Amino acid sequence: MVVEPKVKGSLSLTAHPYGCREAVKRQVEYVKNAKQYKGSKKALIIGASSGYGLATRISLAFGGSKADTIGVSYETASNGRKTGTAGWWNNIFFKQEAEKEGLLAKNFVGDAFSYEMKDEVIKYIKEEFGGKVDIVVYSLASGVRTDPKTGITHKSSLKSRTGNITGPTLNIEKGCLEDKTMENATDEELEETVKVMGGEDWDLWVKALCEADVLASGCKTYAYSYLGPELISGIYRDGTLGAAKRHLEQTARELSIYLKEKIDGDAYVSVNKALVTKASAYIPIFPLYAALLYKVMKNMGIHEGTIEQTHRLFADMIYGDSPEIDDERRIRPDNWELRDDVQEKISEILKDINHENFKELSDYKGYVDDFMNMNGFGFDNVDYSEDIDLDELAKLKP
Ligand code: NAI
Repeated sequence: MVVEPKVKGSLSLTAHPYGCREAVKRQVEYVKNAKQYKGSKKALIIGASSGYGLATRISLAFGGSKADTIGVSYETASNGRKTGTAGWWNNIFFKQEAEKEGLLAKNFVGDAFSYEMKDEVIKYIKEEFGGKVDIVVYSLASGVRTDPKTGITHKSSLKSRTGNITGPTLNIEKGCLEDKTMENATDEELEETVKVMGGEDWDLWVKALCEADVLASGCKTYAYSYLGPELISGIYRDGTLGAAKRHLEQTARELSIYLKEKIDGDAYVSVNKALVTKASAYIPIFPLYAALLYKVMKNMGIHEGTIEQTHRLFADMIYGDSPEIDDERRIRPDNWELRDDVQEKISEILKDINHENFKELSDYKGYVDDFMNMNGFGFDNVDYSEDIDLDELAKLKP
């Protein structure tokens, strides 16, 4: 099969296996050539197959103390007719890269929210991973979660709480700017979103790991959050996702007390920069903000992609000597995004943006390139005319 990009709305229906390999390799190369740090030796990353989780895994394995890693993700394999998800291939090719360096890289593909997945990971840590992990990073983004205690499936909503919000956004499928409305959430929708994207599952993971005695003394856990500027507060901070992230922050405070007492450990939320990922592409109105942010930060020479932002978080902040921690104990690698000069410039451009000029005024190309790269497309050294034997590739196991 010749694998071609097929985009529907904000979703890529195909992923190019060799392009995903290239995307992983480029991130590995970046980290190998960037600042090195003394960090984790044994890491567990929940949500490790794409976006921030994959970048975390790559930084810890190739930019720090050569960590052995366990990655948990929910991805779909190729079935010979369909290409499989990008994350599926990222898992496989990350593992190949790690094994070349003699590192352990174990992938668990399935539902991280379930008790079964937690049990399997704990069993593996005990029996085959040396008994303990020294860092746990929680980087899940999901639209649904089945609560393992009740069996009830909860669905998150990407909605506001301050009334319907209509604004322009990018439509990659059609290559145009269009108006999108983010609707106002009901109380129930808000609660459901907190159930899915709040801290409940992170808490279950950390306590299960701690009770099973697989967290090393001093082990720290981090979960990723977003805050965003005033400009988009209606669609994020003050909306359903913001409520879920506040719950995540509350969970960090509780887990910090719990871990300090149990293993002299700690728990933090890291507030990261807005970036194109599979998850963020879904948030109504967000893509245009991201494309404007890219434009302004690139012009100022301070733009970071997923790997640059994540590597700075670990090299400078978590394992480095210049952590930025705010009054609420949150680590803030989003500090450059929220600089006044960056936000003022974005607001200025936004006033003038229209259907004719959005490609010049925003970094539309940069946004689309990242979106394509994330699905394995758009690399100049990948032969996209190649007839790929998906059945053969399907034999590669994560
Ligand atoms: P992503 O979509 O690239 O990654 C999500 C990960 O979660 C994937 O590895 C996926 O396989 C995994 N996953 C989803 N459901 C699962 C399940 N049931 N079981 C096991 N694994 C599952 O998303 P992204 O953007 O990297 O998000 C990760 C975290 O970073 C989220 O908490 C997000 O809110 C946060 N964040 C994202 C920002 C952005 O602009 N993309 C900005 C700041 C924070």
